[in-house]
Amino acid sequence: MLRGRRGSRVRALEGGPEEEAPPAAAAVPLALLPSAQQPEATAEQMLLRGIFEIGRGSCDVVLTERALRWRPILPERPAGDPKFDLLHKEEFIELKDVFSVKLKRRCSSKQQSGTLLGITLFICLKKEQNKLKDSTIDLINLSEDHCDLWFRQFKKILAGFSNRPKSLKIFLNPQSHKKEATQIYYEKVEPLLKLAGIKTDVTITEYEGHALSLLKECELQGFDGVVCVGGDGSASEVAHALLLRAQKNAGVETDCLLTPVRAQLPLGVIPAGSTNVLAHSLHGVPHVVTATLHIIMGHIQPVDVCTFSTMGKLLRFGFSAMFGFGGRTLALAEKHRWMSPNQRRDFAVIKALAKLKPEDCEISFLPFKSSQDLQERKAQGSPKSDCSDQWQMIQGQFLNVSIMAIPCLCSVAPRGLAPNTRLNNGSMALIIVRNTSRPEFIKHLKRYASVKNQFSFPFVETYTVEEVKVQRKNNTSGHNPEEKNEPYEIALDNSFPWNVDGDLMEVASDVHVRLHPRLISLYGGGTEEMNDSKVTCNCL
Ligand SMILES: *[C@@H]1O[C@H](CO)[C@@H](O)[C@H](O)[C@H]1NC(C)=O
Ligand SMILES: *[C@@H]1O[C@H](CO)[C@@H](O)[C@H](O)[C@H]1NC(C)=O
Ligand SMILES: *[C@@H]1O[C@H](CO)[C@@H](O)[C@H](O)[C@H]1NC(C)=O
Ligand SMILES: *[C@@H]1O[C@H](CO)[C@@H](O)[C@H](O)[C@H]1NC(C)=O
Ligand SMILES: *[C@@H]1O[C@H](CO)[C@@H](O)[C@H](O)[C@H]1NC(C)=O
Ligand SMILES: *[C@@H]1O[C@H](CO)[C@@H](O)[C@H](O)[C@H]1NC(C)=O
Repeated sequence: MLRGRRGSRVRALEGGPEEEAPPAAAAVPLALLPSAQQPEATAEQMLLRGIFEIGRGSCDVVLTERALRWRPILPERPAGDPKFDLLHKEEFIELKDVFSVKLKRRCSSKQQSGTLLGITLFICLKKEQNKLKDSTIDLINLSEDHCDLWFRQFKKILAGFSNRPKSLKIFLNPQSHKKEATQIYYEKVEPLLKLAGIKTDVTITEYEGHALSLLKECELQGFDGVVCVGGDGSASEVAHALLLRAQKNAGVETDCLLTPVRAQLPLGVIPAGSTNVLAHSLHGVPHVVTATLHIIMGHIQPVDVCTFSTMGKLLRFGFSAMFGFGGRTLALAEKHRWMSPNQRRDFAVIKALAKLKPEDCEISFLPFKSSQDLQERKAQGSPKSDCSDQWQMIQGQFLNVSIMAIPCLCSVAPRGLAPNTRLNNGSMALIIVRNTSRPEFIKHLKRYASVKNQFSFPFVETYTVEEVKVQRKNNTSGHNPEEKNEPYEIALDNSFPWNVDGDLMEVASDVHVRLHPRLISLYGGGTEEMNDSKVTCNCL
């Protein structure tokens, strides 16, 4: 009978405590017991059974299509030994968590292959806070025949996971953050990809837009996915490029783009930038090994994407955007590229706060209608195309506006800058901060770091929308000519910078943002709901 931790607890509840496992479950490596329900052993067909040494002793090992189970071979049950059941406990790993198998040999410097020791399985473990970790488990048996039989069976099972990539095109931005992307890739990512037998083709990008221009032309035949090693800017550029390419291949005109076609290849994002909002939102944690393992395991999720266009012309694809304070902060930071990333971000925030001024805008939006709403309206006999009268319009002075298709998790906002959005529930969050005093605005910004509702201010409004149109009313208001400003600051005062996924987008005229559900597939795991953990922020 199976007895995980769950099982023993149930038993303790039902029948008396005599067999309840002590809390410190002695020799059992708990890390190997996934929290998920144990797969049903009885229903599975046994593929192989044999003896291996695992951990400290000989074990009776059973391989089924879904799991590898083992239990120590112990002498006869000593009468009344309460520890027997615990020592005899069955352990298992699910094969869907195995990403590689190797024959384990004693290292020998001269010989090509040393003495066989057994088999090593490489597995992906779930840790706390959405983190994944690679680990190994050794099955020791010196018999070549025995090991060879099992090894081939493991290989066959692994080959059956057809969703896992075998070949990846990698774009590495060596300039991101503290120029660490190269090191991160070669030290943490590549060894795991190699271990998993994934072929890679690495391009180190040389300038902003390089990946975009390469992806227009380069041959992607034979690749199962594209991976970007960098920050949000690099990841968004590659996503944009993949989507542009998909439109081109499908012969879809990008002007007046209403229904773009989906990107053909999934995109993996290895967080190596100064902001890693996309990776953080995908994986629940901006963690390199976690991101790599999701790619290796072929965990794929469809993600909503926005198009940004002006006067019917597509500007770009992206996941999130801000203007007002969020755009100006980025524009200021970009002007101070010579500073270190953290330095220039702090500088820009302080500077933008000092010069805080609202934008005079007209924002129109189409509220989100769930498919349920649509069905109800259909049932009521409403025609399908009555969208035009659903548009709503708000006008006024806005300090900061966010339009986000993904939750935008980041270190200063662990629940996300748009905590009510999901990666792919077909809607985006429109969050509007109306003009208020500087102290009140700062209070709102600080609230992102806490568990309290950051939107519960009278000057903040949130909407769930499908489409947004932004029209700027007056682009020179508030500029005081008596201030002694650097020329670029005057220019900045008059400019209307957008921050799209951490990239600066300067637009002179109206911007039309439209959500496209599940337009791209990204490697990543479904994240657990964040519990209200205590998070403090001392950035402001
Ligand atoms: C405002 O700006 C900050 C900082 O740039 C950003 O993180 C935040 O999400 C923006 N949006 C709103 C609605 O406050
Ligand atoms: C998306 O999810 C959030 C959180 O569950 C919810 O508030 C929002 O209404 C959802 N949107 C849709 C379109 O289901
Ligand atoms: C914005 O609010 C501040 C503080 O309440 C006020 O001093 C300022 O005049 C307002 N600006 C505009 C353009 O309404
Ligand atoms: C634009 O701003 C200027 C300077 O603040 C003001 O005099 C003018 O009335 C504004 N125009 C509109 C259309 O709001
Ligand atoms: C903003 O002002 C500049 C000059 O100050 C002008 O060239 C530009 O057309 C204006 N843009 C809008 C949207 O009014
Ligand atoms: C969140 O809290 C619930 C109930 O308290 C718990 O069952 C769950 O495991 C927690 N999840 C995380 C990610 O901590």
